Amino acid sequence: MSEYETILVDRPESAPRVGLITLHRPKALNALNRQLMLEVVEAATAFDRDPEIGAIVITGSERAFAAGADIKEMQPQGFPQVYVDDLFRDWDRLADLRTPLIAAVAGHALGGGCELAMLCDILLAADTASFGQPEIRLGVIPGIGGSQRLTRAVGKAKAMEMCLTGRTMKAEEAERSGLVSRIIPAAELLDEALKVAATIAGFSAPIVAMAKEAVNRSYESTLAEGIRFERRLFHSTFATADQKEGMGAFVEKRTPAFGHH
Ligand code: CAA
Repeated sequence: MSEYETILVDRPESAPRVGLITLHRPKALNALNRQLMLEVVEAATAFDRDPEIGAIVITGSERAFAAGADIKEMQPQGFPQVYVDDLFRDWDRLADLRTPLIAAVAGHALGGGCELAMLCDILLAADTASFGQPEIRLGVIPGIGGSQRLTRAVGKAKAMEMCLTGRTMKAEEAERSGLVSRIIPAAELLDEALKVAATIAGFSAPIVAMAKEAVNRSYESTLAEGIRFERRLFHSTFATADQKEGMGAFVEKRTPAFGHH
């Protein structure tokens, strides 16, 4: 049913208003080559534009979420090519999407795999997950935001150690350090991620987008500016029908039916 070659795209019946993207290069442990990058970005952008989709789950296989950027594809390239192509820039387009992205990670999430997971808004880990930025062993450094997002997530000490030594973190340490929001038994990972996504997708789409924007703003602003930004967005929620519906339903002791406007 998918027009893509390196990913599977689905709208699971069990999770209304949820789009599912499964990385699917099993022979290469889902290594992120150029085609996969473009396909993920295209599929996620299509879901983002679809008013019938309110949350997106990105997952991999049991063995690997993704074992990094495709080393075999990168190996012959030189500086002029990667610079002119601005290699990996397209991944940034995922960070601009309004729709929340949930990474459901089992197995290896290394290099670009860890970075893709960190690009997502919520990171759920199976108990089998492991995270790392092993680029240093290949004579390169992280290139899809790893040195920045990992540092913000787990702090300088751990991020520095991981980027300088290539040490990987198992799920438990990743949760303890604030990299992942929760650990889930591997067999239940996808169901739980779809449940979380469906919960989000059931809320008002514009309000969800505002909540996401407000949290993300905390990375880009001082505390005082961020708080002012949040308050302005909070005020603007009162311009939506969904605020009337949400508060009205509470007062009338009924379940709200959000119209996403
Ligand atoms: N790129 C290309 N191919 C990869 C790959 C990658 N990142 N990771 C794994 N593969 C391929 C292997 O070459 C192998 O293919 P062949 O059967 O054709 O030889 C296949 O996937 C299975 O891998 P292994 O046999 O190595 O499996 P394993 O279970 O023994 O080891 C692993 C698993 C520890 C994840 C190991 O594959 C590994 O170390 N992979 C590379 C991890 C890495 O360095 N990632 C960072 C990449 S650089 C990067 O991501 C830059 C950036 O910031 C954007």
